[in-house]
Amino acid sequence: MKRIVAILLALALVMSCTVAFAAKNEKKNADDMNFEFIIDDDSATGTVNVYHWWTAGGEKDAIESVVAQFGDLYTGIEAKSNAIPGGAGGAMVMKVKVLQQTGKSPEAFQAHPGQEIEPYLQSDLLLKLNAIWEYADLEERALPGLVEMCTASDGNHYVVPIGIHKTNIILYNIHLFEELGVEIPDHEDITWDEFWAICDELAAKMPEGTYPLDLGDQKGWPACQVFENIMLGTDPQIYEDFINGNYNVDDVTRVLETYTRLMDYVAPDHNSRDWYHTTGAMVSGTCAMQIMGAWAQPLLTNMDQVYGEDYGVFTFPGTAGWFGMCVDGFVVSNDSADVASGIRWAFSVCTQDVQEYFSGLKESISPYMDTPDDVYNELTLHFKEQLMDEGTKVYPSITHGTAMPWSASTSLQTQIQEYATSTNHDAAYYANRIVNILREAGVKGDWDLVD
Ligand code: GAL
Repeated sequence: MKRIVAILLALALVMSCTVAFAAKNEKKNADDMNFEFIIDDDSATGTVNVYHWWTAGGEKDAIESVVAQFGDLYTGIEAKSNAIPGGAGGAMVMKVKVLQQTGKSPEAFQAHPGQEIEPYLQSDLLLKLNAIWEYADLEERALPGLVEMCTASDGNHYVVPIGIHKTNIILYNIHLFEELGVEIPDHEDITWDEFWAICDELAAKMPEGTYPLDLGDQKGWPACQVFENIMLGTDPQIYEDFINGNYNVDDVTRVLETYTRLMDYVAPDHNSRDWYHTTGAMVSGTCAMQIMGAWAQPLLTNMDQVYGEDYGVFTFPGTAGWFGMCVDGFVVSNDSADVASGIRWAFSVCTQDVQEYFSGLKESISPYMDTPDDVYNELTLHFKEQLMDEGTKVYPSITHGTAMPWSASTSLQTQIQEYATSTNHDAAYYANRIVNILREAGVKGDWDLVD
């Protein structure tokens, strides 16, 4: 009897493995595919499952515009938009990993270029997209510096960029400043001293239960983004060393000490909200300022807030002349059910039509030179001009995937959120833990940011 049970169990195991194996799609090799034919075939039929994390007001409209335009371009292909909320990608990445392991890789999914995609490459899960870059002339069209950022460690392109945002900004509620009589500096590039003076004055004048700042770090990453801003704003050399894996507890301690000071002005329940709730809190005046990337703009527009009238922007202290670069793009799985449609999706995001609509709605800078400036509003155009200015230095984001692998950046997010939430801001203790994260993840970069 025992023998029969054992044989039946073994059979069941073999069958389940076979089913799991059969469910996996065959991996496609880009070199064996005719991209030109695939892209030009506008009578093709199929389905493209697209995963992304754009659920907040404004960014949701932006991605929906891409889906609609894809439908116009390829009428026989159904584009299914799968939004995994959370921002900055963490939750979506988990979902994509599960799908990949169960043989259901999405045709295309959102990604930041750089370190973030390296683990997929090591597991051979992405389709090489050099042929899209050639077909759509992306090397010629891309804004300066972008080609390098979008070239993977093996020298190939796997990401087609769709938009760029600046990360080192602070948004503030103009009405609140005016009501409280807090003077708004006549310049955007505020110094640390000016920043602390503003925080002090706000703290003294704001009614109980309202605060100069809020983090909205329920998901962890906004706390990490503040950390990277403070690090660059403390000393760009520290930032460069850090992302290159040259750990230094003293430097990280210095950064965290500034973070500790900043926490004095932050709403104590900061981690009970997501970043977009905090943007709402800033609009309603529960907090006066939010440290967030420029993707908060379309959300503010969605809330009828106008730049220069209702809200303003400071450069994060210490980062004047630097542009924190967050590049959004799409990658294509090499083992999905419809790899050709994934290619078509990735191609569609860099077409001029899509770029014009998307950049307008997402209020992001188009990665391509041929997108006309009249698609931008005043603030996005201002950021684009900063980015294009030869004197501006660009730095890659840790939190938004480019400067560090997920294995390091997600642990960093958790650690920094814990630090921000803890009542004991022991900078040296947390600096040691942060440095250990980098050590364990084997962070090793080759960035040259500082002259
Ligand atoms: C970033 C992304 C932005 C915005 C933000 C918040 O990672 O690049 O476009 O989506 O997350 O969700």
